[in-house]
Amino acid sequence: MGDVISEGCLRGVGTGIIGRHLEIIDNVTSTNDIARERAKAGCREGLIIVARSQSDGKGRMGRNFHSPEGGLYLSIVLRPDAPPYLASTLPLLAGLAVSKSISTTLMLKTSLKWPNDVLIDGRKVSGILAESSIKGDRLEYVIIGIGINVNFPMTDLPQELWECAWTLRDASGSMVDMEELLRNLVCFLENLYNRFMEGDVGPILEEWSDRSETLGRLVRVRTPSSELEGTALGLDQTGALLISIDGLLHRIDSGDVEHLFGQ
Ligand code: BTN
Repeated sequence: MGDVISEGCLRGVGTGIIGRHLEIIDNVTSTNDIARERAKAGCREGLIIVARSQSDGKGRMGRNFHSPEGGLYLSIVLRPDAPPYLASTLPLLAGLAVSKSISTTLMLKTSLKWPNDVLIDGRKVSGILAESSIKGDRLEYVIIGIGINVNFPMTDLPQELWECAWTLRDASGSMVDMEELLRNLVCFLENLYNRFMEGDVGPILEEWSDRSETLGRLVRVRTPSSELEGTALGLDQTGALLISIDGLLHRIDSGDVEHLFGQ
């Protein structure tokens, strides 16, 4: 059973783009840092950087992402021939791929919290950090960084996370085959990315919505400049969250969502 990722792990997986090159590094500051370097140096799209642990794992909104050994930490370099406004749908696409790959590998029900957290029983098992570079009026590259809490015990995370986070090992009750999980993830990513490139974004966002735990709920949203409370109604075509507050529709590009109870 693949408890760590080996060089040949993606051989025979059959994807044309995602994972055609795989680089494995023991410990890095952040796989996004390495992927950015490779992208700037002109690597082909589809390169995946995997690390066994990260000393400076980065999360959304400037947060830290705890990355002990036993997790799956990877960054993928993409070069979509697309306008910059479409970049915001890629992390949602990646969250959908993670959710599907966990469900397929472990037969566990997963759900999505906007914008791209993957949950099991309401607890976060995976997060995604995307960054993009623009050249002229097109995307130059997009880095999709994915962190999944796989095989370490919850006690390897700080105690303040014990209630809201979970690991796949603890959720499923046994060790997880990390290589099988990565192979499934790469296949779902490739399928969704091909559909994205064919302009099929609407149906991808519909699939995201079907798995979402955010939509239809009363939520509190913290953006860099405000805090809002309302009912999450849906996504627009860029993946932004639409919430209704006193009958008025608000569009949220980025922020942190808290699911409120007693709606
Ligand atoms: C979040 O939940 O706030 C996003 C977490 C993203 C973590 C992944 S792990 C691989 C990649 N490298 C990083 O430094 N961050 C992302």
